[in-house]
Amino acid sequence: MTDARLAELIGRLPNLRLLTEPGDLEHYGRDWTRRWTPAPLAIALPASIDEVQAIIRWANAHHVAIVPSGGRTGLSGGAVAAQGELVLSLERMNRVMAFDAVDRTLTVQSGITLQAVHDASHAHGLIYPVDFAARGSCSIGGNIATNAGGIRVIRYGNTREWIAGLKVIAGNGELLELNRGLIKNSSGYDLRQLMIGSEGTLGVVVEATLRLTDPPPPSQVMLLALPDMDALMQVFAVFREKLSLQAFEFFTDVAQRHVLAHGAQRAIDGDYPYYVVTEFDAIDEQAMEAALAAFEHCVEQGWASDGVIAQSEAQAAALWRLREGITESLAPHRPYKNDISVRIAAVPAFLQEMQELLAREYPHFDVVWFGHIGDGNLHINVLKPDALADAEFISQCEHVTKLLAETLHRHGGSISAEHGIGLVKRAYLESTRSAAEIALMRGVRQVFDPNGVLNPGKLF
Ligand code: MLT
Ligand code: ZN
Repeated sequence: MTDARLAELIGRLPNLRLLTEPGDLEHYGRDWTRRWTPAPLAIALPASIDEVQAIIRWANAHHVAIVPSGGRTGLSGGAVAAQGELVLSLERMNRVMAFDAVDRTLTVQSGITLQAVHDASHAHGLIYPVDFAARGSCSIGGNIATNAGGIRVIRYGNTREWIAGLKVIAGNGELLELNRGLIKNSSGYDLRQLMIGSEGTLGVVVEATLRLTDPPPPSQVMLLALPDMDALMQVFAVFREKLSLQAFEFFTDVAQRHVLAHGAQRAIDGDYPYYVVTEFDAIDEQAMEAALAAFEHCVEQGWASDGVIAQSEAQAAALWRLREGITESLAPHRPYKNDISVRIAAVPAFLQEMQELLAREYPHFDVVWFGHIGDGNLHINVLKPDALADAEFISQCEHVTKLLAETLHRHGGSISAEHGIGLVKRAYLESTRSAAEIALMRGVRQVFDPNGVLNPGKLF
């Protein structure tokens, strides 16, 4: 170990697992963005809260930047370590600590995967309702850092609705126990909520107490093919009024082309501009009849061109794959990702404006639209044309994001709906937050992390 700072860290924590091999630096230094060349100083894999605290105190003493790290499935560079930072991976702190049947809470270490949280909740006959495709790899700590959303927000809300308490090591090295599982706590600022979505810039979450709830009633999954964006919003309005929705997701024909090429099964013959996968409560015959009536009404109005209802669990999974498989199917094309939100009512005007603008300015780009239309959250992925060099592609995509940011500003939207700002969207923060807000955010950061050791360069 040649680095004197690391030698001193080992002096403080002789049992700390520390990795410095090039393969490990590469592995832990990147997230799913794949845009930066990983160059961390080392990887620390603490096994206890005490070790995390000691690492942060050491970082303050030596002014070493720390990158908190979970499953590294993030899409905005929040977990990238490309500037000699110490990666603080919570991977080994992945246990369920407690279940409370009366409070209906599950207390977990922050390195646990979302899937393991689901499994532990099911074992007690309950659910943790936040869900999305990266469930098998992403960690709950990362979900909290970005206030992750996903495919069930329309029914259950974002991560922040489900956090009853947090244990955090703040940037100044203090251990904070925030809210302690209370339902009611009107005793001043809610620092727990401040931590959620702070992208590892205020503190490192080491433990979380999650609220659980009853499993939803039996449901049904339907795929619909639609002629245009206006129809999409009309179908949404009808389905939301007539059914009890658990999910309402959309994708375009371009997205379907990629996901089919990646092994998903076609469910509707022919190609249509837009598709919706929706899941809704289907408790009895009456609920199913209501769903069919809603669908037929949409067909009569010309808002739906075709549709399929899953006849089995396997078919429901196959329909969901058409939506959930999109990210994986796009990965080989090195997509430049945008994750925006506008108020639901502003979706059609925003989408039309953006599609026209992109077709005019960037006709050579394959642009894939999909996402959580029922939450006003759209994913806009620009795929790299083979002929374009990496640097030129990024530069053109940054211009696309600038156009997006300007359009969003006019529509009162946000440049990040659920992925976070990280490195990727840092330059566009002002399109969503006012100068006064950003100044206050910087001030808050200074209070929690006076030496700026936690995730510097991310968010701001
Ligand atoms: C999704 O909704 O599938 C995720 O946010 C991932 C993505 O945007 O690629
Ligand atoms: Zn999403």
